[in-house]
Amino acid sequence: MTEDQETVKQTDSAVVAQSSAAEALPANTSPVSTPTDTLPNDDVQAAGCGQTAADLSSTERLKTLSVDIGGSGIKTILLDAKGEVLTERLRQNTPAPATPEAIIELVRAQATQQGDFDRVSVGFPGVVRQGVIGSAANLDSSWIGVDLATSLAQVLGKPVRVANDADVQGLGAVSCQGVELVLTLGTGVGAALFVNGTLVPNLELGHHPFRKGETYEQQLGRFALESIGKKRWNRRLEKAIALLQAIFNYDTLYLGGGETKQINFDLPKNVKIVSNMMGLLGGIALWRD
Ligand code: BGC
Repeated sequence: MTEDQETVKQTDSAVVAQSSAAEALPANTSPVSTPTDTLPNDDVQAAGCGQTAADLSSTERLKTLSVDIGGSGIKTILLDAKGEVLTERLRQNTPAPATPEAIIELVRAQATQQGDFDRVSVGFPGVVRQGVIGSAANLDSSWIGVDLATSLAQVLGKPVRVANDADVQGLGAVSCQGVELVLTLGTGVGAALFVNGTLVPNLELGHHPFRKGETYEQQLGRFALESIGKKRWNRRLEKAIALLQAIFNYDTLYLGGGETKQINFDLPKNVKIVSNMMGLLGGIALWRD
């Protein structure tokens, strides 16, 4: 394990890590075959929406490597077919510069440590269409146009599906009832919109105008938090929540991402904080056809 790599102790009992599973499994270093896969063209539905035992029967034993590529950390975990956690989450700092080559190499190294798996889900912090990167505001600009699904499938020798990171978080979090909005507060500000569990992909609300000529991300991203401090950041977040309620009339708003721990005001009843682990747990939904 490299120096900046850490295994994170989970406090949430729903995501208790089983470290022995990773150790017992062989390293995934098999030479490259070139499976390619893309997200189904049909609507992507959240993990909890009407999944029946029959849906799982053909895929029961499949293990999914779930990858969360972020502006500050690259994380992986193994999930079983039901989306239950099989291994400890691994996390490494995002390399600088955050080029495709450097990040794909980190994912490859973590995948080797995670053990054996059959397929891969990736949350990426930008627009993703059919596995191809359309934007990458907080990573190196050389990501634009990269076919991440194909590149990673070649490196890992397994089929890979890629979606926007906030979309993946949302797929893990929503209840599939009514209009549900997800806002992720980390290095960047991510957002995902669901109608009865069906995703409207690549919302990219973080880059829409919010106030004082600035976007949600400029006002509420990690850089803003560090420069204006927690008190003003919380006031801004309160304003953003009120505005988003008026725009979307959502039934529920979910707040995810590392900076939710900074929230210090009482949230409206229909606003819930979700575990930061959702960015990985939601990955299972990408394999629901
Ligand atoms: C990106 C989004 C992403 C968000 C959170 C933004 O800068 O444009 O795609 O979801 O950061 O990572």
